[in-house]
Amino acid sequence: MAPTARRKILVTSALPYANAPLHLGHMLEQVQADIWVRFQRSRGHDCLYVCADDAHGTAIMLAAEKQGITPEQHIAQVHLDHQRDSQHFLIDFANFHSTHSPENRAWSEDIYRRLKANDHIASRSITQAFDPEKQLFLADRFIKGSCPRCKTPDQYGDNCEACGATYTPADLIDPVSAISGATPVEKESVHFFFKLPEFEDMLRQWLDSDTLQPQVANKLREWTEAGLQEWDISRDAPYFGFEIPGEPGKYFYVWLDAPIGYIASFQNYCDQTGHPFDPYWLPGGDTELYHFIGKDIINFHGLFWPAMLHSAGLRTPTAIFVHGFLTVNGTKMSKSRGTFINAGTYLEHLDAEYLRYYFAAKLSGSVDDIDLNLEDFVQRVNSDVVGKIVNIASRCAGFLAKRFDNQLTNRPAEPELLAEFIARGDVIAQLYEAREFNKAMREIVALADQANQYIDDKKPWVLAKQEGSENEVHAVCSMGINLFRVLMTYLKPVLPAMATKAESFLACSLDWTALDITLKDHRLGTFEPLLTRIDSKQVEAMVEASKQAVAEAAVPSVAAPQATDSDETDTIAFEDFAKLDLRIVEIVAAELVEGADKLLRLTLSLGDDQKQVLAGIRSAYQPEQLVGKLTVMVANLAPRKMRFGVSQGMVLVAGPGDKELFLLEPHAGARPGMQDK
Ligand code: 2FM
Ligand code: ZN
Repeated sequence: MAPTARRKILVTSALPYANAPLHLGHMLEQVQADIWVRFQRSRGHDCLYVCADDAHGTAIMLAAEKQGITPEQHIAQVHLDHQRDSQHFLIDFANFHSTHSPENRAWSEDIYRRLKANDHIASRSITQAFDPEKQLFLADRFIKGSCPRCKTPDQYGDNCEACGATYTPADLIDPVSAISGATPVEKESVHFFFKLPEFEDMLRQWLDSDTLQPQVANKLREWTEAGLQEWDISRDAPYFGFEIPGEPGKYFYVWLDAPIGYIASFQNYCDQTGHPFDPYWLPGGDTELYHFIGKDIINFHGLFWPAMLHSAGLRTPTAIFVHGFLTVNGTKMSKSRGTFINAGTYLEHLDAEYLRYYFAAKLSGSVDDIDLNLEDFVQRVNSDVVGKIVNIASRCAGFLAKRFDNQLTNRPAEPELLAEFIARGDVIAQLYEAREFNKAMREIVALADQANQYIDDKKPWVLAKQEGSENEVHAVCSMGINLFRVLMTYLKPVLPAMATKAESFLACSLDWTALDITLKDHRLGTFEPLLTRIDSKQVEAMVEASKQAVAEAAVPSVAAPQATDSDETDTIAFEDFAKLDLRIVEIVAAELVEGADKLLRLTLSLGDDQKQVLAGIRSAYQPEQLVGKLTVMVANLAPRKMRFGVSQGMVLVAGPGDKELFLLEPHAGARPGMQDK
């Protein structure tokens, strides 16, 4: 490999909202960024990857309120969950911070002051819908009513899901606040705007500068050509966020301080480690800055963000790398089909590296959607990684251990073939650099086919039985191990844990910078299984568990984080609520459910009847603590066949979750079976 100058690179991926667990859509992006970062490091570059939780906004404020905890408590819990899931997916963040941090407050205020000093902030009074009960301004998605065209009830915001009509929320028939059910009123307040139209020339240049994928630049050009609008960057109290300096009761809109979170996370990293900060964010430095994001947020990153940075005298990104959406089995992830898969649920059933490989095998540099086809996933990982790559090592390791004390020969049997494998590294590196991971994986698997073919042709297992072929067996197996070493070097960014095991077996570095080194007269470590095959039952169990997670999340209703990626708050109409047959019931028996670590099987007495319910309250109670306690039950819920049996209703408990889920203590006035409405 020709030596190249050591690049200094900072990478970010989109900051996940701190109101729900990470799902496989998040993991697609983090894995994509992580592979790219690990590739750069393997090539000897200085590449840092920072991220953070996106912790502000109305949705997070309401989610915390619903659980009876402060937003700070809520985001602290989610932060731990996010960090754990990313870590288990082997995402190598230099730092995972939060937008609700002192660094982000300081940078948001500072950038705002700079924009204001440059006369890029306007203020004026606007009229908005206001919830008189909650005393809260309502974003469009928090208003619902009947469609003015087709009259379908419960349509949110500005478009009808039934007939596709678009309108303003003011056009809705009988609009109500989705938060309180109150009829919204119109109310004026002063808002602050970022004067985006003043950046038209700057943005045109930016869009023409080849820093964006062509489809992304085209989409953004459509918006600039339609005329840029001033961007509303403020929200009125109550709001969970940062108050705007000098403007009491006015807060930065979550999307103003979210991307600033990239700077804040890096600042926090630099403060902890002494790493230089300025060259990465001031113009004219010799560093590179890349944002990995999904195609749904290109306006924020491709227009608002570069304009803000420009006005604030900070550098703009070197490029923005946009990926498509993740679908599962060809369609949008679905909770009812069990294909809305949380990262944590996946990890309970499957190794992170299976999915890292599958994503790599599908990801390209384009914005096309990526499909996780679960059958193809099993087949592809088993065939490529276990059947082809791992197989090379396991076919050779046995002979070398048994007959040659793990010692390799002093020269490979076919230096030309090895040189060919190493030479392919240039093409593979270019593909990694361009995020054409799918093509890189194809190249690597084609080389693995060649390596297996080599071993098939030489048949060491036949040679081993022939007298006088000892040296040849040794040479062939040593050659196989050298080919495996090259392939694992290429795969290390995708399969870092497997590469670590391979490094200890091979007793050498699998960094790209060591690619040219041939293992000669070299002693191997002990061969340990590198990765086992996926059993499709594991995938089935994961899908079942994902369905179950949705059902369980509904049990402790106040404790359940919403497994949604959006800001939406779902509500039901009063008529829907009136259909619920809520009863106070006595728990007459409780038992563990084999194989389910969150569930208990409760037998509930409704006075004249008994029902069995599977309830996700095991984190808070041992079965014996429950007998004799009372709880509220939804008695007319249709029986549901769950993985662990039929559940004939649902019990309601209150509390923040985990060990704090509260039932009712029996007292003289509460008789099992009585209605509670
Ligand atoms: O769309 C989202 O999930 C946002 N939380 C992404 C923010 S990215 C950055 F700007 F912070
Ligand atoms: Zn309609």
